[in-house]
Amino acid sequence: MKKKNYILGIESSCDDTSASVICNNKILSNITANQEVHAKYGGVVPELASRAHQQNIVPVVQQALEVANISKNDLDAIAFTRGPGLMGSLLVGTSFAKSLALGLGIPLIDVNHMKAHILAHFIENDTKIPPFPFICLTISGGHTQLIKITDHFEMEILGETIDDAVGEAFDKSAKILGLPYPGGPLIDKYAKEGNPKAFKFTQPKVGGLEFSFSGLKTQILYFIQKQTKENPNFIKENLNDICASIQYTIIEILMTKLKNAVKQTGIKHIAIAGGVSANSEIRKRLELAEKHWGWTTYIPDFEYTTDNAGMIAIAGYLKYLQSDFSDVSISATARLKVTE
Ligand code: KG4
Ligand code: ZN
Repeated sequence: MKKKNYILGIESSCDDTSASVICNNKILSNITANQEVHAKYGGVVPELASRAHQQNIVPVVQQALEVANISKNDLDAIAFTRGPGLMGSLLVGTSFAKSLALGLGIPLIDVNHMKAHILAHFIENDTKIPPFPFICLTISGGHTQLIKITDHFEMEILGETIDDAVGEAFDKSAKILGLPYPGGPLIDKYAKEGNPKAFKFTQPKVGGLEFSFSGLKTQILYFIQKQTKENPNFIKENLNDICASIQYTIIEILMTKLKNAVKQTGIKHIAIAGGVSANSEIRKRLELAEKHWGWTTYIPDFEYTTDNAGMIAIAGYLKYLQSDFSDVSISATARLKVTE
């Protein structure tokens, strides 16, 4: 029988404090404390995030162990997010992981948050596991990247955003509409009742497999300013249609680039990762792509799309199998490429 390895994963790169216990490639627990404190500021306030992580980390880890029904002495290794992310936030998880690994006398494993979003696809559950090579579109609040994956830790960037990330495009558009942070899920919700063709926004002209979203944000801002000048109730009266039109434009940009990536590489195994892959429209469009273009698409469970420690735990387990451990002198880093 295969040996059972228990790894604790810790994620604290942005505004979610999360801990997860994995047994080989099966998740036993995945506990996340979201930070409500940022909503009224329209974005994550780094100092407040760091403080909230300090308050949350012990109870979150304790609950992850309880739900997994194991004691900390059963753990074989501790995996943590080293970067990229907010320095003050990363430091909380990094220091905690180091002390716990040192105290228990078990290996410490550093994980690249961007790789982890992709490796979440290797968690064993009801979803399909992609075969190599596959393409992953990572779409989150901080990143928009097309990656070719040839092995668990062999990744190549095919294209990425030259300005804002797609999550930012959702969140900033939502802010213009007066919606709280994070606005992505709200745009998704209102879009369900709206007409995606009601308002037309132009697509950015950026070549190759690169993305650009800052022009769209400005376009939306000017559009809303103009309309509300003529009718102060414009947003209220048209919220569903505005959201549906914004969402349609953003998803159209993503699908166009995905199509180009398939053409360029000949790879038809397509995965998505990151917070924005929770979006219902991209999920629908990928289902259609399976039917119409013969792609096989891989969409992670909702719980493993936004920032979570389950993805850190699976990345940790895959590194554990290679005895790829970190020295306790390792430090957190705000910047880290998916290929590093
Ligand atoms: O991966 P994630 O949790 O954090 C980062 O590493 O950035 O992604 C968060 C982003 C936010 O911008 C949020 O608005 C967006 O994911 N998001 C969505 C949806 N759910 C989360 N965007 C569009 N539709 C959604 N359903
Ligand atoms: Zn993330």
